[in-house]
Amino acid sequence: MSKKEYTVGFEIIGTGKAVPPKRVTNDELAKTLDTNDEWIRSHTGIGARHIADDHIACSDLAVEAARNALSWAIERQACAEKTIEELALTVDMVIVGSSTTDYFCCPATACIVQNAIGAKNAGAMDVVNACSSFIYGLETGAGLLSVSNDRRRALVIGAEVLSRFVDWTDRGTCVLFGDGAGAVLLEKTNSPRGISRTILGADGSGAGDLIMKQGGSRYPFKKGDTVVTPPHMEMNGRAVYNFAVGAVTETITTLLKAENLAIEDVALIVPHQANARIVQAAAKRLNVPEGRFFLNIEEYANTSSASIPIALDELNRSGALRTGDLILCVAFGAGLTYGGSLIRW
Ligand SMILES: CC(C)(COP(=O)(O)OP(=O)(O)OC[C@H]1O[C@@H](n2cnc3c(N)ncnc32)[C@H](O)[C@@H]1OP(=O)(O)O)[C@@H](O)C(=O)NCCC(=O)NCCS
Repeated sequence: MSKKEYTVGFEIIGTGKAVPPKRVTNDELAKTLDTNDEWIRSHTGIGARHIADDHIACSDLAVEAARNALSWAIERQACAEKTIEELALTVDMVIVGSSTTDYFCCPATACIVQNAIGAKNAGAMDVVNACSSFIYGLETGAGLLSVSNDRRRALVIGAEVLSRFVDWTDRGTCVLFGDGAGAVLLEKTNSPRGISRTILGADGSGAGDLIMKQGGSRYPFKKGDTVVTPPHMEMNGRAVYNFAVGAVTETITTLLKAENLAIEDVALIVPHQANARIVQAAAKRLNVPEGRFFLNIEEYANTSSASIPIALDELNRSGALRTGDLILCVAFGAGLTYGGSLIRW
């Protein structure tokens, strides 16, 4: 859908984030793993990651991020409501993007969040699509608002506790991931601000390149099974890397072309934070200075579906985003999937 065909906008009126307090540096990992700070930094750009203590689950981070997003909207007087409780009652949909949900099959983590924040009038659902979940969730949120006059606000959250689903003896994967959550409050408005176009895509032929095999209906746990290694992510790093560079490059090119824009029209590109080298390679292909891409991977590592909303919240709160700025968010991940959104701030 092009901008001109929109009769309503979908504006982000609040952002929030939550990361667990425990911060683990590369040097700390190197105490128990055959790795080192130099390798991790030079191959990924990662310097540290935040890791959830055992009592923290996905919904705990999601709830904190959601409350922060609601509170930002109130502080900035982006809504008439004066308290988080009042504003939560006006939310029509709670969407949690995650691949590390509280429970294996059901209930949806969004239901836990909906109850915890008191969004009693909201529907709730999860979008389980790995690192692309937030962009898929954003489009789902905008779509659900657009098809009903009864819905005005959607809370879209990306939240992960990936540290619980990596093999901590596999240096090729465990160093890459971290825990965290980010949230945005989306409102249907008549303003030209907000999401102007989103594209979503997938290439299921790469499903095996980033996969958590155990526990699903393909490889179910059976009575008497002994857990040798807890369920964890397996990855063909090189294949994912190549896919990611192509996905970032093509998503940006396609979005700009569809909106008849040049890269110079975009104030900032907010990519999924998986590996700084992926961003550098994409920037080179696009002939765009690396500085046009926002990176905070050094502090958080790859927080999957949380990485883009965490980045948006940091940018928003630091004042780096000015009203009217055009930003481009681009994600990719297991599936393999990808997606991008052009947003007028
Ligand atoms: C994972 C990734 C960083 C690996 O980088 P790479 O340059 O392809 O490295 P390789 O896997 O070829 O490994 C090169 C060497 O480094 C070693 N190595 C791997 N991880 C290491 C670590 N944490 N510390 C030290 N050495 C490591 C390997 O064992 C290998 O050693 P060898 O040459 O003696 O066999 C890179 O493939 C990547 O970023 N892929 C995309 C991953 C991703 O973003 N996934 C999430 C998508 S949402």
